[in-house]
Amino acid sequence: MGNVPQKSANIESDSLACVRTANALLKENRVGEAKRQVEQALELTPNNTAIRRLHKQITLLEKNEPRRSAFEHTEAQQYEFDFWESWMKKDFLSGYNYFEKTRAEGKKLAGWCMNDGGFFVKEKDNWERFAEYLNDKVCLEIGSGPEGALSRWWWVKKRIIIEPLVERFKNFQLENCNKTWFADDIKLYARCAEEFIPELSNAIDGAILCINVLDHCVEPMLALQNIAKYARPGCHLFLWTTLWRSFECDEGHRNITINRTAFERNIIDLGFDVLSSFDKHHDTPEMIGYGCRAIKK
Ligand SMILES: C[S@@+](CC[C@H](N)C(=O)[O-])C[C@H]1O[C@@H](n2cnc3c(N)ncnc32)[C@H](O)[C@@H]1O
Repeated sequence: MGNVPQKSANIESDSLACVRTANALLKENRVGEAKRQVEQALELTPNNTAIRRLHKQITLLEKNEPRRSAFEHTEAQQYEFDFWESWMKKDFLSGYNYFEKTRAEGKKLAGWCMNDGGFFVKEKDNWERFAEYLNDKVCLEIGSGPEGALSRWWWVKKRIIIEPLVERFKNFQLENCNKTWFADDIKLYARCAEEFIPELSNAIDGAILCINVLDHCVEPMLALQNIAKYARPGCHLFLWTTLWRSFECDEGHRNITINRTAFERNIIDLGFDVLSSFDKHHDTPEMIGYGCRAIKK
């Protein structure tokens, strides 16, 4: 599922203002000052469990202790499938039929999160050039969901998807609609991105897509390490993830880190040149996100 709205409506506005200030301070790594803001919020709303939890997390940050994650991946996956099942029932055929029509016309559409409010928004020419470049390349998508972007890139020489639920999505689509986004020529791995797949080492020379996935992983940094190992020099990376939710995460999402700079530093240290980065949460201060377009050195 995409970005879930935060449960801020039940928090008094003064208290919410303190939490927002705290978040702004945390972005600058000013943990002590952020903690004082949260303490002020707690004075105003002492019984608010979300703020109490935030206070506890900041106390751990202050002590430099990694936060122990209570994230339960099996539950998260069931949550994910339940969400997508109802989505597929409603939206599968309209999206797929449109794709078949445009494919028959030879159109090379970028797909969700690439041109639709995504990486190639208002960059039609750039997308067309990039699509041509991918003709003879190998591309990988991590955590495609039931559809993803790569399933639409019919012209790419070789396509690979790593998605723990991919067989369930494919079976559901075939059983209910007699069609599937996961065409026979796409190599599917029904595995988690944290599991290293040796045959993919240094094998991806076109692009790797990882959109809205890392905050669903048990070990996001391990998933990123594997992505770096799969990427051959010159391979493009398109990444977007929410990093931090100040309020309660639901059973499908986890917090990764509050520190965007450190997160980006990891990507650079893994051998990528970050060409551009963004945060789609700039108008929702309760959340911090990180997206980038990068290229493997
Ligand atoms: C929010 S969906 C995103 C789907 C798609 N990328 C999009 O943006 O619409 C997250 C996807 O990540 C998958 N996922 C969860 N844990 C994963 C893991 N450890 N490795 C790879 N994919 C994972 C889920 O099954 C789910 O399909």
